[in-house]
Amino acid sequence: MVGSRKRLVLKMVAVMVIMKLLCAECRDPVLHRVGGGRYGWNPETNFTEWSIHEHFYVGDWLYFGFDKKTHSVLEVNRSSYEKCIDKGFISNITRGGRDVFNLTEAKTYYFLDGRGFCIKGMKVSVLVEEYFPPIRPLSSPPDSPRPLFPNDGFPFHAVPRMTLIATALAFSLLL
Ligand SMILES: *[C@@H]1O[C@H](CO)[C@@H](O)[C@H](O)[C@H]1NC(C)=O
Ligand SMILES: *[C@@H]1O[C@H](CO)[C@@H](O)[C@H](O)[C@H]1NC(C)=O
Ligand SMILES: *[C@@H]1O[C@H](CO)[C@@H](O)[C@H](O)[C@H]1NC(C)=O
Ligand SMILES: *[C@@H]1O[C@H](CO)[C@@H](O)[C@H](O)[C@H]1NC(C)=O
Repeated sequence: MVGSRKRLVLKMVAVMVIMKLLCAECRDPVLHRVGGGRYGWNPETNFTEWSIHEHFYVGDWLYFGFDKKTHSVLEVNRSSYEKCIDKGFISNITRGGRDVFNLTEAKTYYFLDGRGFCIKGMKVSVLVEEYFPPIRPLSSPPDSPRPLFPNDGFPFHAVPRMTLIATALAFSLLL
């Protein structure tokens, strides 16, 4: 009986390892510099243009770089964002002008400048998605690696993880 219990525990460990390897948190979080560059939070930036080229996932970070004497960053709801209303904001992200914001939920976040530059276009909406790691067929031959997400540069650290998953799967099947 001890043997089968041991086996069960090992099986559970193997399953936990597989789940850990497949989990969303396994992707390295990305720090997105809002507007691009070190001081992208300014009225000259086209934030629509900037956000088109970004992919935001849960666990990623936003970095707002700006001059705190002239600008600030407020998180607001959608209607306030559309009408540039800075009263009744959700949170004040402004600290020293090199401020980070943790994207903890899969939803659209809205930010605007609280110093009157919103009407000049200083606002940004960020659609955050849940991250699902790409699953590649384990039986496919390991030739011709092609980029799955060209903009993220992801596949490089995905490959060893897939190898680990295959190993864990093989291990659990042997038990
Ligand atoms: C910002 O970029 C978007 C998308 O490229 C474009 O449609 C829009 O006209 C630009 N806005 C300004 C003020 O240039
Ligand atoms: C958005 O926030 C404003 C300001 O606090 C508030 O008046 C409004 O009711 C909110 N809108 C929604 C849809 O929650
Ligand atoms: C947001 O926080 C900054 C820094 O703490 C402060 O200077 C500013 O007045 C705040 N803005 C609002 C609208 O509360
Ligand atoms: C960011 O938020 C996620 C989700 O709540 C959390 O797991 C993570 O620890 C946070 N990161 C930091 C550095 O606080």
